[in-house]
Amino acid sequence: MELPKHRVILTQEQIQARIPELARQIEQDMGTENPLVVVVLKGAFIFAADLIRNFNFPHQVDFISISSYGSATESTGVVKLLKDLDEPIKGRTVLLVEDIVDTGLTLHYLYEMLKIREPKRIEVAAFLSKKARREYNVPVKFVGFEVPNVFVVGYGLDYKQMYRNLPFVIGIEE
Ligand code: IMP
Repeated sequence: MELPKHRVILTQEQIQARIPELARQIEQDMGTENPLVVVVLKGAFIFAADLIRNFNFPHQVDFISISSYGSATESTGVVKLLKDLDEPIKGRTVLLVEDIVDTGLTLHYLYEMLKIREPKRIEVAAFLSKKARREYNVPVKFVGFEVPNVFVVGYGLDYKQMYRNLPFVIGIEE
């Protein structure tokens, strides 16, 4: 598979070293609360799969799907709910698992939508964060890596729906 012009941002080794650390932090925070792990499709599915395989505590998994981007690399500013949760979350501890927090719009939308359902608490685990781009202030308790302001691809994140399978993260140079 040919890759677009890029530079490597995170190696497979860096990612695989970080995931167990994050899992331990999450365990310390909510390991006794039987959290519902809410995976935000599609981008977070690889991260979530690796993360929960490092969990040594009871939890359940559900999926939610929203769209904020088209196939372009800039946000449209519009968020749409494509698939809702199967499970009610009232009274539960929720771990929202995201691929990347960019402007924070997507997370803000999700957070506010889920808060209305009266969970015990909602915490966020994001594989990546682009702090420089933040417009919405959403509390992200667990962050895998801070990345520079480039369009990043791989480990679940796509470029025109491709390259999600890369075990490392690259920055696209257009
Ligand atoms: P936000 O709403 O601006 O925070 O954007 C969040 C969503 O946009 C993420 O869940 C991703 O799906 C997508 N996104 C933002 N930045 C990137 C990137 O650099 N590469 C791939 N997808 C991205």
